[in-house]
Amino acid sequence: MNNALDGKVALVTGGGRGIGAAVALRLAQDGADVALTFQRNQQRADDVVEQIKRAGRRAIAIRADSADPAALTAVVDRVAGELGRLDILVNNAGAFLLGPLEQLSLEEFEQTIAVNVRAPFVASQAAISHMPAGGRIINIGSNVAERTVFPGFSLYAMSKTALIGLTKALGRELGPRAITVNLVNPGATDTELNPADGPNAGTVNGFTALGHYAAPADVAAAVAFLAGADGRYITGATVNVDGGFTI
Ligand SMILES: NC(=O)c1ccc[n+]([C@@H]2O[C@H](COP(=O)([O-])OP(=O)(O)OC[C@H]3O[C@@H](n4cnc5c(N)ncnc54)[C@H](OP(=O)(O)O)[C@@H]3O)[C@@H](O)[C@H]2O)c1
Repeated sequence: MNNALDGKVALVTGGGRGIGAAVALRLAQDGADVALTFQRNQQRADDVVEQIKRAGRRAIAIRADSADPAALTAVVDRVAGELGRLDILVNNAGAFLLGPLEQLSLEEFEQTIAVNVRAPFVASQAAISHMPAGGRIINIGSNVAERTVFPGFSLYAMSKTALIGLTKALGRELGPRAITVNLVNPGATDTELNPADGPNAGTVNGFTALGHYAAPADVAAAVAFLAGADGRYITGATVNVDGGFTI
C-alpha cells in the first residue's frame, strides 16, 4: 500500500473539533501539511495546529465562517499561497439545525443552505484553480441523506442530499483533470455535536449493525483512504461510514 501524503497540502473546513479535527490530524499523520478553518473557538483550532506541528508538518488555523463566501474564497487562496499548493479540500463544516417543519425559520433555512451546500460549492470553485492533477475534493455529508429514521431532519437531510448531486457532477467534470470528488457520509459520530452518551444514543445505536457510534477517527480513516494514491480510481462515490445504519 502506498497511500502516503508527503508533499501534499490539505484544507479542512471546520477542523478545530470533532470529525474535522480528526481528519486534519490523520491527513497530517499520513504526511500532509494541513490548514484548517474554525468559526469561534480559536483555542481548540490552535491545539490541533500544535499537534500537527509536533508531528513535523506545517499547519495553520484560520477563522472563517463557511456561511461567508468571500471569506471562504480568501481562505482557499491564502492556503495555496502560504503553504505553496493545494491538493486536498475537505468540505467538513456543517450546520445541524433540526425541528418540525412548521417551526423551522427561513433564517435557519438560509443558514443551513449557506454552510452545508453553498460553502462546498464555493470552496470547490476556489480550490480547482490551484489544484493539480491528483487533487482530491472530499465532502462530508450525512447518512440521513440516504435513510431518515427520525422526524425533524427535513432541512438537514435536504442540504446533505444536495452533496450527492454536487459530488457526482463535479466528479464527472473534474475527472479529465485527474481530480477526484467523493462524499463521505458519517452516521452517528461521537463529537460535541452528537455525543455518544447523549439522550438518543441508545435508540440510534439500535439502528446500526455494529451497535455503537463511530469515533471521529473512523470517519477520518475513510477520508484518508480517498485522499491518498490508493483512492485514485474512486470518484463521484458516496461512502457511508455509519456502522450499517443505512443497510
Ligand atoms: N457528529 C455526527 O454524528 C455527524 C453525523 C453525520 C454527519 N456529520 C457532519 O460532520 C461534519 C462535522 O460534524 P462534527 O460532529 O464534527 O461537528 P462539531 O463537533 O460541532 O465540530 C464542528 C467544527 O466545525 C466548525 N464550524 C461549525 N460551523 C462552522 C462554520 N459556519 N464555518 C466554519 N467552521 C464551522 C467548528 O468551529 P468552532 O470550534 O469554532 O465552533 C468546529 O471546528 C458536519 O458537516 C456534520 O454535519 C456529523
